[in-house]
Amino acid sequence: MDKFKVRGGKPLRGRIEIGGAKNSALPCLAATLLTADTVTLHNVPYVRDLITQRRLLEDLGATVLTPELRTHKVTAGNIEVFEAPYHLVKTMRASVLALGPLLGRFGQAKVSLPGGCAIGTRPIDLHLKAFEQLGATVSLESGDVVARAPKGRLVGSVIDFEKVTVTGTENVMMAAALAKGATTIRNAAEEPEIEDLAELMNKMGARIKGAGTSTITIEGVEGLGGAEHTIIPDRIETGTFMVAAAITDGEIEIRSCRPDHLTAVIEKLREAGVEIDELNPSTLLVRRSSAGLVARDVTTEPHPNFPTDMQAQYMALMTQADGESKVIETIFENRFMHASELIRMGADIAISGNTAVVRGKRRLMGAPILASDLRASASLVLAALCADGETVIDRVYHIDRGYETIVRKLRSLGADIERIKEGLVAEVETEV
Ligand code: UD1
Repeated sequence: MDKFKVRGGKPLRGRIEIGGAKNSALPCLAATLLTADTVTLHNVPYVRDLITQRRLLEDLGATVLTPELRTHKVTAGNIEVFEAPYHLVKTMRASVLALGPLLGRFGQAKVSLPGGCAIGTRPIDLHLKAFEQLGATVSLESGDVVARAPKGRLVGSVIDFEKVTVTGTENVMMAAALAKGATTIRNAAEEPEIEDLAELMNKMGARIKGAGTSTITIEGVEGLGGAEHTIIPDRIETGTFMVAAAITDGEIEIRSCRPDHLTAVIEKLREAGVEIDELNPSTLLVRRSSAGLVARDVTTEPHPNFPTDMQAQYMALMTQADGESKVIETIFENRFMHASELIRMGADIAISGNTAVVRGKRRLMGAPILASDLRASASLVLAALCADGETVIDRVYHIDRGYETIVRKLRSLGADIERIKEGLVAEVETEV
């Protein structure tokens, strides 16, 4: 298993380019299953989860060409299997995104119950309940969810989600696009990735309105066609590099990003003493303010509020801020696994239920630590970058799921980080 070796204490300086959003590319790739025509997606990040999603499409019978590294041309003309198998779903929960399009287009779908990040129980009951409301029958057979539309086609309905769910909203949008009649989603997720998916689907001929707000309407159509689309920049990668600039007391120009997708993060970081200049609509210049970092509480909530996917990185930052801050996690239970590793490095963090109290301005010391999930790994890398001495982070396959060539990017900013492959030091980061 690969590890990262980090020698901390170097301020990161320079420029980096943000890649495409993993959480947008995943549903957009799933949406290619809605048509027999070719859908071309640009700016698909080269990360493990997308490789898994591509495998899933190919296993189902789609052809995926990559004329360039980050361009996928998908043709799902000959779909003969309607099943996302366990060996893929267990490594990536987003495989459940195959359910909506398969059910919408073919009236049948089978997906193993998901695995993915170890961040608490992550049920898909809301997705399944919504499919039932669209007229599907859903049953659990030997660990698989089997969904069928009795007359081969779903029927539009009103879906009122009792809890905001991102992939649930996306699954319903995809399932309802080819249903008979109109569907309204209430209490829909408002994430930028939902808007991006709707934009792609509308280019394919879908009739979706309101994506990006809490009420989405989908007018079912008879068929969808090919389209070409560029995936939005990854807002979580952007936020992670913003914290990297602040935590190492460096200065990073972050290019090809969408600051308007990160309003809550930018606001919170500014409150906490991070200077963020918007050089133009897609470039940020980020550095710690001369007055230093100050502790500020944060609560994770659905978009447009502070995202749970930035909680771990923000907690790492708070270990260096002046004062005491509360980090409250309201989306996922068990999403504080990075805290115990940060404590091993010298952080002062007390957890009680969904609240972490961080006493800041602690000197972090390098230590052997374990990554436990995707965003936790990012927070450990950030902590290691500002710690004294050497940190070895094990199980970095988690970070490979969502951050493209992170070692290469950090090294280009002056970080002393290397990937260790089975005991050997990799000179150049292997593309994952
Ligand atoms: C997506 C993101 C993930 C992010 C999360 C929250 C993708 C591929 N992943 O995950 O990075 O952390 O949104 O912003 O886009 N829930 C249920 N029943 C369901 C579905 C969800 O109880 O059927 C609960 C979950 O356990 C969680 C909350 O709803 O407590 C939100 O989860 P959800 O928005 O569905 O997360 P994902 O879509 O899996």
